[in-house]
Amino acid sequence: MIYQIYPRSFLDSNGDGVGDLPGIASKLDYLRWLGVDAIWLSPIYPSPMADFGYDITNYTDVHPLFGTLQDLDTLLHKVHQRDLKLILDFVPNHTSDEHPWFQQARSSRMNEQRDWYIWHDPAPDGGPPNNWTSRFGGSAWQFDEQTEQYYLHVYDVKQPDLNWRNPQVRQTMFDVMRFWLDRGVDGFRVDALEVLLKDEQFRDNPVNPLWKPGDPFYTRLLEDYVVDQPGMHAIMQEMRTLTESYSQRVLIGELYLPLERLMPYYGEQLDEIHLPFNFQFVTMPTWEASTIRQVVDAYEAALPEGAWPNWVLGNHDRSRIATRVGHEQARLTQMLLLTLRGTPTCYYGEELGMQDIALPREVMQDPLAREHPEYSRDPVRSPMQWDRSPNAGFCPPGTEPWLPLPADYQQINVAVEREDPHSLLTLTRRLIELRRSTLALTTGSYCPIEGVPDGCFVYLRQASSQRYLVALNFSGQEQTLKLSEMGHGRIVLSTYLDREEPIDLALLRLRSDEGNVIELANL
Ligand code: GLC
Repeated sequence: MIYQIYPRSFLDSNGDGVGDLPGIASKLDYLRWLGVDAIWLSPIYPSPMADFGYDITNYTDVHPLFGTLQDLDTLLHKVHQRDLKLILDFVPNHTSDEHPWFQQARSSRMNEQRDWYIWHDPAPDGGPPNNWTSRFGGSAWQFDEQTEQYYLHVYDVKQPDLNWRNPQVRQTMFDVMRFWLDRGVDGFRVDALEVLLKDEQFRDNPVNPLWKPGDPFYTRLLEDYVVDQPGMHAIMQEMRTLTESYSQRVLIGELYLPLERLMPYYGEQLDEIHLPFNFQFVTMPTWEASTIRQVVDAYEAALPEGAWPNWVLGNHDRSRIATRVGHEQARLTQMLLLTLRGTPTCYYGEELGMQDIALPREVMQDPLAREHPEYSRDPVRSPMQWDRSPNAGFCPPGTEPWLPLPADYQQINVAVEREDPHSLLTLTRRLIELRRSTLALTTGSYCPIEGVPDGCFVYLRQASSQRYLVALNFSGQEQTLKLSEMGHGRIVLSTYLDREEPIDLALLRLRSDEGNVIELANL
């Protein structure tokens, strides 16, 4: 299991209200105890923090807020000592506008590094060169007074896009990867991959014919000429070849794409991204058994032969799963995540049932909130809830955390849930333990079971003669399943954490929002 840490929010060891690397290092035993295999850190590099670290001014150093390069080495050492892996966030699409490369590029049209970014003359009326919009709102083009051209920023105005058609840019960014791989980092989660190349002719994006007022602003145009452009796969292969020249490293790609465009990122010869993130559960509009099953089946069917699946419920950009489905069903979603075929990724706090926090507009800090507070990502980035003490143990008492804590942290925190045999944390840990020790649940096949009541999703995981049935009731009321052809078995884990018992599958009662993992007897 991969565990995503948003470093600002995990643990503040020095009392500045912001989490840091020594803070993370001090919690590795918790992650070990939970059963995590690998940790992915959102960016820790020097940055003016316009987009909280996704705007980088130096790719090969650590922001003083988070610590030093030495702290990173220490963390890496401690991670490896515990047989864990460390994955860094790699942000190849854009830098900060304060990066020395951009400072050079914007200094003159003649500058050697001008072409490292994407510049364009104004349209004949002086306006932006085309209709492309920023994912954070407004035009994707910013006029530069001094050199009288526009530069492209798919995200914030302070995040100019690098020009990946320039060979020097590619080489420099590949050197960045080498820098970290040489240090012993176990791989990268690669940011915003789907927009890495842009249309060479800068054609206007078509208007989305289905868009209506009230729909998200960023879906008004179809991003046909910005997303998944020809040429991407050659770059992915190069990244993979570089990664493979080290042993045992991984590439995980952030790619918000429909399945038919996502799967090719595994590579025709499985020679591109090891794990193109599967955001099906993150983007799914309704959370119902039938839709979940459809999504799982479609994903399984679309996977290229030999490709390894992965599943994600949330991340630092999207509403937390416990907010989307509620506390009761949050337990079911953990069972789902941890019993499906493929590598699960857990966003910090998900194991506790942390929810989005309520925030007034004035305290929002996300650049996305500037124009569109309704899309602010601050609510999903609140401090990790460690215990009942002031500031939930995230930062020393008397320190103000960079984002507030919710009132419910008194109940929803590591210390309380660790002691509670029925907590979500206990359930998550037991699920991870069961998964790790059960071949059928790790590498076994996946087969959905037909003929179950509406509101239920049931599937079989099997590795040779070992068979496990996962029965999930999303309906909010009791359901009776009649699966006599499955014979007998034993409930090894219920989301209620109150029953482990033999069961005749001819009559399986699932309470409201209950899920069971059942070890089936040999036929
Ligand atoms: C990715 C990150 C997001 C960031 C954006 C720009 O989508 O997950 O947090 O704002 O890229 O780097």
